[in-house]
Amino acid sequence: MKAIRIKEDIYWVGAIDWAVRDFHGYMTPRGTTYNNYLIMDDEITLLDTVKYDFAETTIKNIKSVVDPSKIKNLIINHIENDHATSVGDIMQLTPDATIYITEKGRKGLERFYDLARWNIKTVKTGDTLKIGKRTLLFLETPMLHWPDSMMTYIKEDKLLISQDGFGQHIASAVRFDDEFVTCQSMAELDDAVVDYYANILMPFGQLIKAKIAEVQKLGLDIDMIAPDHGIIWRQNPNKVLQKYLDMANGKAPLRVAIIYDTMWHSTEMMTSPMMQGIKDEGVECTVIKLRATPMSVAIKEFWNSRGCLIGTPTLNNIMYPTVAEFLTHLRGLRPKNRIAGAFGSYGWGGGGVKEAYEELKRIGLEIVEPGLQILYKPSLDDETTCYDFGRAFAKQVKTYHEKF
Ligand code: FEO
Repeated sequence: MKAIRIKEDIYWVGAIDWAVRDFHGYMTPRGTTYNNYLIMDDEITLLDTVKYDFAETTIKNIKSVVDPSKIKNLIINHIENDHATSVGDIMQLTPDATIYITEKGRKGLERFYDLARWNIKTVKTGDTLKIGKRTLLFLETPMLHWPDSMMTYIKEDKLLISQDGFGQHIASAVRFDDEFVTCQSMAELDDAVVDYYANILMPFGQLIKAKIAEVQKLGLDIDMIAPDHGIIWRQNPNKVLQKYLDMANGKAPLRVAIIYDTMWHSTEMMTSPMMQGIKDEGVECTVIKLRATPMSVAIKEFWNSRGCLIGTPTLNNIMYPTVAEFLTHLRGLRPKNRIAGAFGSYGWGGGGVKEAYEELKRIGLEIVEPGLQILYKPSLDDETTCYDFGRAFAKQVKTYHEKF
């Protein structure tokens, strides 16, 4: 690899991680990239570093443009390990450089490094740094998605270095949206954006809306958004901005995700007639078996559907463990603007569906009750009941969907 020019005298110097499949528990079937950017101006400036495994790669890429000892400024937009665990390697090559970081970032970074040996300047929203022909404007984005997070806007280039925001976990030989759409597809890029938002940014919809409004109020003219993961938005950066706003405002496809697990296939047998009922009501449907699907994919499918039916057998009077795990994960993501119900099979006492409802209410979703429970194994009559249940749920989903 070598540096890739993204604007005049601005280079991508990051790394492509083709092999990562487990990103702190989040499945990344497409791999990812750790993007960082080098600006060749009077004061040579590096924006972010990369995950520790790729320190040598980014240093090699920087060297393809300039001797790293000439870097004068290192901007750290976010201290999470995938972006800041090469800070030590970079600073070793240019120990007199100045680090620009938020106050919360500085406090976090000192848990990883001895900062006394480095020049550190803390910045806040509205602060600027003149590096020659260019001016960098810092924008704090606390809790998007860590307290320390910020973005950096380069006025003269209309370029927003957006850190995790607007990123995607995609490893690709190409760097830009227009190239990716040509060699792969817009649908795949869209899917990766939704996947990233659902698994990382879902809890922060209100903050995202407020931050986008703040950027609009500042009147920043943006013609390129360069995130720290995946593809750079140069063809139509407004498209991803609008997509984020839509998701933050509660837009979702009119679709139902049936997300279930099963012991002896009885709960599973309930899903087919339910899916048919949902489809016959004119609503799209997808069916996800939890034990056969990575958690992050199930989360994405949940987020990409207005309605969700949770299917769980009863095991020892409670929910099936994989269903409990999914709902616990979902609770942490604080989903909004979704409607849900539950169903499942049982052998004697029951209890799984009741517990699923308790958890769905705790999450704060709109609830459709009662759920549906089937004893041991669905009979032919039960299959009709499942069909009717799916159809009735889809009707409720349609009514709820009209609110958005
Ligand atoms: Fe890509 Fe929050 O780190």
